[in-house]
Amino acid sequence: LGDGPLTGRHAIVTSGPTHEPIDPVRYIANRSSGAQGAAIAAALRDLGARVTFVTGPAAVPPPEGVAVTRVETAREMAEAVAAAHPADVAVFAAAVADWRVENAAAEKMKKGTGGLPVLAFAENPDILADVAKMSEGRPALVVGFAAETEDVVAHARAKLDRKGCDWIVANDVSPETGIMGGAENAVHLVTATGVEDWPRMAKGEVARRLASRIAAELGTG
Ligand code: C5P
Repeated sequence: LGDGPLTGRHAIVTSGPTHEPIDPVRYIANRSSGAQGAAIAAALRDLGARVTFVTGPAAVPPPEGVAVTRVETAREMAEAVAAAHPADVAVFAAAVADWRVENAAAEKMKKGTGGLPVLAFAENPDILADVAKMSEGRPALVVGFAAETEDVVAHARAKLDRKGCDWIVANDVSPETGIMGGAENAVHLVTATGVEDWPRMAKGEVARRLASRIAAELGTG
């Protein structure tokens, strides 16, 4: 581990999509590449933090020098996060599926046997909200993300209140922005006291800026 302002601190970072099985060979997923989460984990590591990186099946590899837990479903991600406490900061960059298939089939579903399949959904645990509302051992700083396609800042403010986290990093993931799956991000940092609009920059740059804000907030920057 490098020596830096976050030396001796533990960070949990979630990243990537989750996969929610329909049957043993099919799943529901989303377009998250895991690039922003991996960059944040690397940036926290570079400031000296010990990083637990909990990742769904992402398109980009996890960074070197972090403790990686690979998961598939939202529920597995929730368990891995629960097992990682205590932490000084938790950053929830994963694009967690809001719903899982409640009636996932144990065997591969077959065509032409009894009509079209009907999927029933159940709500997944909200990992960010559950950590933000921990009554004991809550990380000092809990950071969520909000990927929106409209009214980005207004939705982020509402999310901050609803989830009980300290910061929301909000971005516009409308297809025309090219942000989801792309190399750059344009974010707004929403806190209890205000909003900062950061210019469009490389995801690595967003990550470094966020990591140094985290170090400053923890009183170590
Ligand atoms: O509610 P929404 O999915 O828009 O919130 C996004 C934020 O909440 C992200 O930080 C994401 O990682 C987190 N989240 C979570 N568990 C869920 C859903 C979202 O941790 N089940």
